[in-house]
Amino acid sequence: MKTDSVLINGGKELKGQISIQGAKNATLPILAASILFHDELVIKNVPHIADVQSFLDILQFLGSKYTFESGTITLNNKNVVYKRIPDDLSSKLRASSLLLGPLLARFGECEIGMPGGCSIGPRPLDIHFDGFERLGSEVFIEGGMIKAKANELHGEFTLRMQSVGATENLIMASVFNKGTVSLHNASKEPEVLDLIRLLRAGGAKIHLHEENNTIVIEGVEKLHPVEHSVIPDRMEAGTFLFAAFATKGSVTLTGVRPQDLTYPLEKLMVMGADIKTTADTITLTYKGKIDGTTVKTAVYPGFPTDLQPQMCVLLTQASKPSMIVENVFEGRYRYIDELLKMNAKIQTEGKVAFIEPSELSGCKVEGYDLRATASMIMAGLCADGVTRVTNLKHLFRGYEAFIEKLQHLGADISYF
Ligand code: EPZ
Repeated sequence: MKTDSVLINGGKELKGQISIQGAKNATLPILAASILFHDELVIKNVPHIADVQSFLDILQFLGSKYTFESGTITLNNKNVVYKRIPDDLSSKLRASSLLLGPLLARFGECEIGMPGGCSIGPRPLDIHFDGFERLGSEVFIEGGMIKAKANELHGEFTLRMQSVGATENLIMASVFNKGTVSLHNASKEPEVLDLIRLLRAGGAKIHLHEENNTIVIEGVEKLHPVEHSVIPDRMEAGTFLFAAFATKGSVTLTGVRPQDLTYPLEKLMVMGADIKTTADTITLTYKGKIDGTTVKTAVYPGFPTDLQPQMCVLLTQASKPSMIVENVFEGRYRYIDELLKMNAKIQTEGKVAFIEPSELSGCKVEGYDLRATASMIMAGLCADGVTRVTNLKHLFRGYEAFIEKLQHLGADISYF
């Protein structure tokens, strides 16, 4: 029975094979995009996680009818109506901000409470708002609610920095525009491309141009029914690869796309891991050493910020001093306070974390957000003695069966 904390008896090597869930960060924008469809939409390979349920609760509030069984969501948004979305619904997750674009596209207006967030730093929406305004809509915040109106969007907008959510929001807002919308310096994460694949399958006209990361959206009248399978979750895959390597074990991941993890796999090989891949599997084997390295997080295809805490824990097990530079989110080092309780030798200075080889020792630690909680569990797997990790609610937001998969791989971990 799932509880809010786990006990881990460290020192066991992870060994074995697990399958990888569908991507949380592809599913959430796709659920937002479902508002653009007036007929049935079938979405497969969806993980049963809290963020997906929170999003489905919002869609149901708007009038959506859905079933969600064994990883398949069947949605019918024919009766979705325009409604003010209160902050008790929108504040459950950051991704509720992704409703702005589709609601504007379908109803020409929207009103939504401020989105939630995690403790990885401020989560501003200025790029989203600037984009909506530049393309012809009016956006303002009144009484803690985000309000927007749009007659029809057209023109060009250059994102001041690549933002996954802003790219997704502006694409969805533009699907039914009368002319064309061009977005420059847009994000091209695999999850953004999966959203584009879904929209194109429904008849949307979206063109990608390498130069200046430009995305051009030509408006269409409506979208037709689609059946779509969500891409694998590269962050879950990376988390298990780092955990297996940190425990000096070996793991085979199935139902994964190695091409989405090129840079993290490169880093693991530089650190001494043996990596073998096929079209949909990755096998990592510990070969007697974990070398130190330097990691700088960046937008895709750089090293993903969502694997930064996991890499930090892995680097405490390396034989040499290492460094991480977190270039995407300020404040994504809060979890290190908890690692220091486990005798980790880490110093942070602004964006930089200096990590020295550390003999981690078990104690009670807290999870602060989704990836940090997974990383604290990783630390417990490597530590001497027993570690108790609390606040698992963060973990259940994004990992479908994290503890159960670790147990399957031989970890001595149990709910407490
Ligand atoms: C998405 O968040 C992911 N979430 C995040 O994953 C991921 O860390 C992030 O992209 C970066 O890859 C989902 O897809 C649901 P951003 P998003 O807009 O879209 C700044 C996880 O653990 N920014 O690309 O919110 C922002 O503060 C989560 O699964 C602005 O300044 O990220 C950050 O520093 C955590 N103004 C940077 O851009 C804006 O208007 C990247 O943010 C928007 C963003």
